[in-house]
Amino acid sequence: MEMKFKIFRFDPEVDEEPRYQEYRVAADPAERILDCLNRIKWEQDGTLSYRMSCAHGVCGSDGMRINGTCALACQKLVREYADAEVTLEPLPFFRVLKDLTVDMNAFLEGILYFRPWLITLSDPPEQERLQSQEEAKRVEEVIRCILCACCTGACPVMSENPNYVGPAALVWAFRHVFDSRDEKRIERLNQLDFPDGVWPCVNHFECTRVCPKKIPVTKCINTLKREIEKTLPGRSQ
Ligand code: SF4
Ligand code: SF4
Ligand code: FES
Repeated sequence: MEMKFKIFRFDPEVDEEPRYQEYRVAADPAERILDCLNRIKWEQDGTLSYRMSCAHGVCGSDGMRINGTCALACQKLVREYADAEVTLEPLPFFRVLKDLTVDMNAFLEGILYFRPWLITLSDPPEQERLQSQEEAKRVEEVIRCILCACCTGACPVMSENPNYVGPAALVWAFRHVFDSRDEKRIERLNQLDFPDGVWPCVNHFECTRVCPKKIPVTKCINTLKREIEKTLPGRSQ
């Protein structure tokens, strides 16, 4: 079948305004949108810019807006687009570096702000810090996060409040607040309890809907809110 692609083009170094460019490409229904994009770049227009690496939903680098929905181009099949027309745009709320390639720095800094590593104060055991199966289960869904930023790009709150830390940062905060081996839980909860922290989320569920790793993002955010309310005296909301 022939697919028609309308692709967002913008090079801030030379263009005054973004534009959309059309391409046509022959594709098998079982192929992925990323396969089409690669063929466009390799056979028609080498100036097109986007990120990709693993092509198997593992690296998280090809998050973009596909017909209005944030998704990984390597996880969307041609046959999902029955009218054979696909519009590709960069993730919303991210600064465009070129075409579909966005600046991920602020997104990653938001995650780093919550110190996404295990913090321990006690002396290390002789071997390793163990978890029971039940304790590990508490965080097993969130450790699937591949930092694709689809959730943050899809969150409607981000358009009203660009300072909101966003769902991905909260997923990483959850991962450490509820890691039984971490010894900074109260401090972590305090860090989340500020007006642009956990509170702007109003349960749109868009993040949960688009997450390619099926992480229950909204549920995690609500669990963090409840944990703050339960644990911290004199919390801000
Ligand atoms: S549930 Fe919260 S974080 Fe997720 S999209 Fe909605 S407002 Fe944003
Ligand atoms: S929570 Fe899901 S959508 Fe958000 S960055 Fe992680 S994998 Fe991507
Ligand atoms: S290219 Fe790695 S997740 Fe899509």
